[in-house]
Amino acid sequence: MKKNVWIYAVLTLSLILSACSSQSSSGQADQKKSSGKLEIFSWWTGAGEEDGLKALIKLFKEKNPEIPIENAAVAGGAGTNAKAVLASRMQGNDPPATFQVHGGSELNDGWVAAGKMEPLNDLYDKEGWNDKFPKQLIDMVSKDGKIYSVPVDIHRGNVLWYNKKIFTENNLQAPKTFDEFFKVADQLKKKGITPLALGDKEPWTATMIFENVLLGTLGNEDYQKLWKGEMKFDDPKVKKAAETYKKMLSYINSDHSSRNWQDASQMVAKGDAAMNIMGDWAKGYFVNDLKLKVNEDFGWVPTPGTENQFMIITDTFGLPKGVKNAKDVKQFLSVLGSVEGQDAFNPLKGSIPARTDADVSKYDEYGKQTIKEFKEAKLAASLAHGSAAPEGFVTKANQAVNIFVTQKNVDQLIDSLNQASSELKK
Ligand code: GAL
Repeated sequence: MKKNVWIYAVLTLSLILSACSSQSSSGQADQKKSSGKLEIFSWWTGAGEEDGLKALIKLFKEKNPEIPIENAAVAGGAGTNAKAVLASRMQGNDPPATFQVHGGSELNDGWVAAGKMEPLNDLYDKEGWNDKFPKQLIDMVSKDGKIYSVPVDIHRGNVLWYNKKIFTENNLQAPKTFDEFFKVADQLKKKGITPLALGDKEPWTATMIFENVLLGTLGNEDYQKLWKGEMKFDDPKVKKAAETYKKMLSYINSDHSSRNWQDASQMVAKGDAAMNIMGDWAKGYFVNDLKLKVNEDFGWVPTPGTENQFMIITDTFGLPKGVKNAKDVKQFLSVLGSVEGQDAFNPLKGSIPARTDADVSKYDEYGKQTIKEFKEAKLAASLAHGSAAPEGFVTKANQAVNIFVTQKNVDQLIDSLNQASSELKK
């Protein structure tokens, strides 16, 4: 009897234990359910921005119908609003399952340095990605040998877009140097056509033109030195760039401060302005939303003085620490980093694939040319999009440039940038 009691006790205990362990595995499943949807956080909403993301989500759903997804995009170009929402969520330990973050300083000096991201080397090994992305790109998403995100795209930031009809009718060539730019701009102005469209309601667009002028004036090496604190902002070359920018500003539309980047691009599309300087998400907007034809309705050249250079902006997604559905996130990252994922997203987004083995035939004339030029060009990280310098500096630079656009005071701009340089990494 005593023996039976013991057997009973042991049996009961083992049943309880097995129940516990099965509960813990089904508990995980429950947790997966209760952790809610796989929340994808970005700023890709609306015109020109969301088509690529939607195509990627569609592909993911086809492959993983059991994982519910939530598209948690917050509107505002270049993350104007999304970055603030993200920051408060991260501070409150409520990270989205995965979020859009630029490779470079924004990721590495930001979320990685703050200890908020999980390394993804295991995923790269598992997917065989280590030689599928260009090394320079992997470097942009790595810190101390650990890889922290997966690039979905490569955007080019040094593109001057132009209305082909205006240029043909006026017998003009797309400008490749600053001298050519000013000649063309003068001719257009005489004809009553706004030469350069700007929409700096969100100040990053004006910073983008400035960084392009810096790259075109300083050249690649000196441009890089600026962000490392190796060249001062009161260097005569920077001053020269600021003077050039000031001159360019005399050719913009007067209502620039009430427009966003899409509105400015639209001016070029409609023939209300001849040119604009914008990243190649503008191509996604031209083609998907405005139904323009590549190299018929609009053309493109590198911004003045930046031929053979590539202002690189890469949108990436990672795995924040503490998310409950880490497995699902990795599943999403696997699709995002696959050839299929990249080729679903990028032809619509205007960007080129981050992977080197994507299917080039899926890209239009602009995409094919950009894929080729990326391989040959010298890369320069974008300041306006947070790759070149820490967020603290970017914010101050945006403020300084924003003031410059209205006041056009070169010395004041240089002073402000010099003061802001304490925010750069030493
Ligand atoms: C950039 C981003 C692009 C595009 C752009 C305009 O920061 O890298 O993918 O969305 O902003 O919003």
